[in-house]
Amino acid sequence: MPAFKTLDDLPADLTGQTALVRVDLNLPMQEGRASDVTRVEAVKPTILELADRGAKVLLLAHFGRPHGQRHSTMSTSVVQGDVERVLDREVMFISEVSGPVVQQSLAILRPGDIGLLDNVRFWPGEEANDPEFAKAIAANGDFYVNDAFSAAHRAHASTEGLAHLLPAYAGRAMEAELKALDAALGNPTRPVAAVVGGAKVSTKLDVLQNLVKQVQHLVIGGGMANTFLAARGVDVGKSLAEHDLAATANRIMDEAEHAGCTVHLPYDVVVAKEFAANPPSLRTANVHEVAAEEMILDIGPQAVEALGDVLKTCRTLVWNGPLGAFETPPFDAATVALAKTAAALTQDGSLTSVAGGGDTVAALAHAGVAQDFTYISTAGGAFLEWMEGRELPGVAALQR
Ligand code: 3PG
Repeated sequence: MPAFKTLDDLPADLTGQTALVRVDLNLPMQEGRASDVTRVEAVKPTILELADRGAKVLLLAHFGRPHGQRHSTMSTSVVQGDVERVLDREVMFISEVSGPVVQQSLAILRPGDIGLLDNVRFWPGEEANDPEFAKAIAANGDFYVNDAFSAAHRAHASTEGLAHLLPAYAGRAMEAELKALDAALGNPTRPVAAVVGGAKVSTKLDVLQNLVKQVQHLVIGGGMANTFLAARGVDVGKSLAEHDLAATANRIMDEAEHAGCTVHLPYDVVVAKEFAANPPSLRTANVHEVAAEEMILDIGPQAVEALGDVLKTCRTLVWNGPLGAFETPPFDAATVALAKTAAALTQDGSLTSVAGGGDTVAALAHAGVAQDFTYISTAGGAFLEWMEGRELPGVAALQR
């Protein structure tokens, strides 16, 4: 992993300096309130450390996709209360990201105080990564800290441009994320297993193609497994499957074989005639015995047991995507069971486990094991791009 600077490279006393800190406050909202504040909790250590070391801390974030225009519903002021509650500090909302309003606010803030700039995507220069826009923001800071891994796949002014204009540091959350990801795929202890689930192969083709070259075991679950089974000539009945991707799925399996990666597809599955909670038609079947009117909604207990045995031989696990339709019981059973096995192996010290993506975090939380994995990334798109083996512009800019 190329080197990057952290908060340890800054002077202990930051009094008199202003930190521009990129955080991800793109919180999920329900009825005007944040339904989950994990992202604020993640950046809390960085913000409080900088403030406690005497810096004035200016938080820079996007919220939604306003595409260069002001929308009151997408102002970061909407989440100001959540930020204050999680940090347990007062936070001054500043309605601009550059210029005299920010300067005047800085004159009011004392060392250790925190300001929240408005949604940086209200200005077209953000997504365009306009150097003039970045310069205007940089003018109010002495150094830049990026603590938003989940936005690092965007080459925007606040995630990439600023790192070239000010001394740039990774925040504590970014630092932990990069170390965990490096341990998982950058420099992992082998054998490595990857679990990739979710509805569609088409959204994770690049992930699968990259992983077969890097891991020794690839477990395919969710609707994606149906596509692979169908490609192998299995009749998957009414199951969700992308039949037009059969050739692609076969090519990925060939590439895996060539690279010495074992692809694990289920040999027993949980099926039903209708997709509902605990439907009367529910049954467990061999994959070769799925009826025309049935659909596969989870992988079966024998397959889960076999996968548990595979994990016992592995030292590293990367997980993205549930194995079944986990929001609807009992189609959460395989995901929950395998997550528990992975958690137990992690706690025993035999497995380094890293998981990421919105659905995956929800599934692991539902299994009650989110605390027991080595690392859980809350990043969605950025985590997937990392799994695809792509360079993330926000990370690359810190490493330069
Ligand atoms: C996210 O919510 O995944 C990040 O904040 C990135 O948001 P974006 O997809 O709108 O760039």
